[in-house]
Parts: sequence; structure tokens; C-alpha cells
Amino acid sequence: MNTAVSDIEIIKAKTTKINDVDFEHLSFGKTFSDHMLVCDYKNGKWQAPKIMPYQPITLDPAAKIFHYGQSVFEGMKAYKDDNNDIFLFRPLDNWKRLNISSKRLAIPELPEHYFMDGLKALLKLDSDWIPKTAGSSLYIRPFIFASGNGFHASPSDEYKFIIACAPSGSYFAGKVKVLIEETYSRSANGGVGFAKAGGNYAGQFYPTQLAIEKGYNQVIWTDDNTHEYIEEAGAMNIFIRINDTLITGPTSDRILDGITRKSIIELAKAEGIAVDVRKITVHEVVNAAKNGTLKEMFGAGTAAVISPISGFGYHGEDFDLPKLENSYASSLKKKITDIQTNKSKDPFGWRYKV
Ligand code: PLP
Ligand code: COI
Repeated sequence: MNTAVSDIEIIKAKTTKINDVDFEHLSFGKTFSDHMLVCDYKNGKWQAPKIMPYQPITLDPAAKIFHYGQSVFEGMKAYKDDNNDIFLFRPLDNWKRLNISSKRLAIPELPEHYFMDGLKALLKLDSDWIPKTAGSSLYIRPFIFASGNGFHASPSDEYKFIIACAPSGSYFAGKVKVLIEETYSRSANGGVGFAKAGGNYAGQFYPTQLAIEKGYNQVIWTDDNTHEYIEEAGAMNIFIRINDTLITGPTSDRILDGITRKSIIELAKAEGIAVDVRKITVHEVVNAAKNGTLKEMFGAGTAAVISPISGFGYHGEDFDLPKLENSYASSLKKKITDIQTNKSKDPFGWRYKV
């Protein structure tokens, strides 16, 4: 049975919180819109999704999410143009990736129409929450977690799929200075690094805290085996420009297959920029920094969009990146955000009108 948008039960909030929000000075992911979508999995199937006022949820202390961390999530953004039309960016790719993540964590896959129809209905209801200020958007967090009870270490028989939305500004407040990690690992072969699993982020917090204490903002993850290859930047994929070539590592079971990453690769190629998807060593990046051929490094992700890296630390030494007038980061950021916000043509068919 298909649950069309019109079938979704909607319980409207009695009052709105929107007047308390300063849309000109939004932080990232701290205030939440009036409603959320909730869909339960029980008795072996996903039940009809419901939209209800944004509110806390009650869980049993034995809920498996607390003990075994069965949880996956996505990150998306909604934009509004001058005509108040609402747009998403490649949303079906988020739905597909949610299911890829779920499968790895033994969570039942969610049908497309629950995700898409639920999301569209929620965005229509909370459309006033989509900021129009440049650089801001409605950050959307779809997530699934094990809500069934029991201390037995086995998959839950009940889950909750929720979509919550937060009007948000930039993810990073200023420059991003990174530390290339030599000790800790984010993921390993055969592990869950390719999944957007909550536990992947929990495992990053401690090494990232250590990097912050040393004056960096973010860790650059290297491969778990040798720590010689550059893999990802915290919650972003990473791009490195040496001379005029843009390099990014190939995806693997250790790296998240970022939607921004693959869009940047296509956009850069269309702009005539040489793009090399290949493994890149720390050694090569350090050498390029020393001989002046390292022009740019930037992180790419939904939350952070494109975040230029101002410098990196490695093995006790700090390297600054040059300040470029016409960086690939700034031109590609403009290209991608113009497509996302309906300010330019979309030759790739990525924009999705809600
Ligand atoms: N890598 C990690 C670990 C992330 O958490 C994210 C954020 O979503 C990304 C990369 C970028 O992926 P996307 O561009 O699909 O948001
Ligand atoms: C995103 O870019 O959407 C992410 O999921 C990153 C998040 C961990 C803040």
C-alpha cells in the first residue's frame, strides 16, 4: 500500500515558536521547526507516518538504541527562492543512502514513498521555517533508531523513523584549521565507515577534542592501516588542489559516499577543471605544501557546503595554505549553491521542487 501525502495524518501544533527565532542570525541545528514526522516500525512493517508537533519522545531504559547504538541518519537541506518555491537537492540519494546505512546496521529498509511523501508533507507544513537569507537553509535530519527493548545483543524488533528540521546558518563559524590524524581511526575495512551511523560520530569526538585542545578545528582522517592516506575531514569529504588539479580519494567501505562530493566532481569537470579521483598520501600533500604546489584544501558536505581549509598540522609542524583570489572552493561553492537555491540553471537535474 502506498501512503500518499494526502494520507499522512497531521496533528498541528497549537502555537508556533517561529516568532522566537532570529532568522538573520541563525546558528547551526539548535532551533527546531514546529513539527516532526514520526513513523514506527513494528509487527514486521513500517506503520503509517504521522506529522505531529515537535516534542520530546519517551523511551524505555532498555531501548536498544541506548545499549547497542543501532541508529542511522541523513543530512539534507531545503531552500526557498524569491517566489517562495521550495527546493531540495538530490533527495532520492539521501533516501538510498539511508537504506544503505540501515542495511549495514541490520535496520529494516524504509520504502521511498514514506521518506519522500513524509518529507514533502512536513516541508509544506513548516514552509515558513525555510530561511531565505543567503547562506541559511532549513537543515533536515531524517533518522532511524532502535526503539525496541531488551538487553539481548541482537537487532531490535521496533524502530522509529523521525524527520526533524532546524533553520540553520553556517556550520563553521570561521576558518577551518585541520590536524592530520596519526593515531586514531574513524573507520576500518569491513566496518561501518561508509554508513551514516551515529556511532561513527561518537568515535570521532575524543580525537577531535584532542585536536581542538591543540588549536585545530577538525581532524583529517587517514586510513586505519598505515595512516598514510588522506580519507575524510570530520563530517565532510575532502578535496585537495595541487597545481590546477583537484584530487579526492575514491570512496570505499571506510568513506562516506558524499552527495556534495560527487556533485563537486561533476561540477568541476563541467567547468574544465582536471579532477583526479585517486588515493592521495599525506606525504604528497606535505611535499606539495613545502614546494608551493599545494593551492587549496576544502571539505565538502551538506552541512558545511564547501569549507576552505586555512592550514593543517602534521607531525608537530603547521602548514598554511595560500589565500587565493579565485579559488576553486569559492567558484564551486557559488555554482552548487546557485543550483540548490534556484538561482541558476540546473543542467544536471539535481534540484527537486517540492
Ligand atoms: N563524510 C562524512 C563522515 C559526513 O558525515 C558527511 C556529511 O553528511 C559527508 C562526508 C558529506 O556527505 P554529504 O555531501 O552527502 O552531506
Ligand atoms: C551533513 O553534512 O549533513 C552531516 O550529516 C554532517 C553532520 C554530522 C553535522
